[in-house]
Amino acid sequence: MTRAESTFQSVFGYAPAITGRAPGRVNLLGEHTDYQGGFVLPAAIPQQATVSIGKNGGHAHRLHSANLHQTLTVEVGEVGTGFAPYLTGSVALCGVHEALDIWVWSDVPSGGLSSSAALELATLRAIRELYRLPLDDVQLALIGQKVEHEYVGVMCGVMDQMASSLADTEHMLFLDTRSLERRRLPLPSGTQNKAAQILVLDSGVPRRLAGSGYNERRAQVEEASRLLGVTQLRDVHDVSQLSVLPELLRRRARHVVSENARVLEALTADAARFGELMNASHASLQGDYQVSHPQVDVLVALLQARPQVYGARMTGAGFGGAVVALVQEGQAAQVAAEVLAQYGTGGRMVVP
Ligand code: GLA
Repeated sequence: MTRAESTFQSVFGYAPAITGRAPGRVNLLGEHTDYQGGFVLPAAIPQQATVSIGKNGGHAHRLHSANLHQTLTVEVGEVGTGFAPYLTGSVALCGVHEALDIWVWSDVPSGGLSSSAALELATLRAIRELYRLPLDDVQLALIGQKVEHEYVGVMCGVMDQMASSLADTEHMLFLDTRSLERRRLPLPSGTQNKAAQILVLDSGVPRRLAGSGYNERRAQVEEASRLLGVTQLRDVHDVSQLSVLPELLRRRARHVVSENARVLEALTADAARFGELMNASHASLQGDYQVSHPQVDVLVALLQARPQVYGARMTGAGFGGAVVALVQEGQAAQVAAEVLAQYGTGGRMVVP
């Protein structure tokens, strides 16, 4: 029996029927572009959510979080609060109306690394297998996104769920969030064709996605595309077209348009150029999109100052949370130790 199965058993008194797992993700480039039909470049991280499920034969779901040491009881058809909506939403949107016992555990840090998408996809994978639902990995990701929209209340794009469903830790997943066309790419290579390495640090600054400015940013760029007469900012290729917009919307739109260009350039860039594009992305997220955080900026600047670092930026929605750096192969742990010592308390290494 796995740890998940035996812990499920100790909570609910019987062995689970199924266990699903799904990873968090780190986005290397292409931030705040996915709700405007843009381009993203995430990779999976080793940390994942684990979800075990059994049928309880009653009228209510019993939901246990091993992270929170908490069990919630939610009537079938109800949404619930706390961590419940991720699970009840996934169950309901799969058309399942039976009462389930669900045990969850996750080591994906909260804040920029898609802990929510990991939880949704792990649940959805388990349900797909349990009920033999004919859903492919893209359909599963789209259901996960719908859970966020309809049950959690975050109007997210599709990157996180697509990454959790389709990415691996060895490649970048280049995703066109409009067509959902995608390609797995190797990490950019460094000098003498040495591979580069991903470093992810948690800034320790807590973040609340739904309560933050995420939905506000989304509304602003929707307003910008409406004023420009385009369906999405994906369709704007030249920042000079943005001059007709009022100041704030112009800055928001300039981030999205320039970020899309950076992702497309990054597809053929070596590590040195890729790193510069990451640095430019951070500056744009900090200045134009205003979704960074002073402490995150400190951590990013410390990384950017290290000679072994090609580039560094905040990753995910922002307002705190994680940062990502592209580092010379074999140097990440050393860089992390030095940078975290300078940064002070609260920071920690997530990858490698
Ligand atoms: C969150 C959302 C994603 C994406 C990022 C920002 O992670 O869930 O859809 O918008 O923020 O790039």
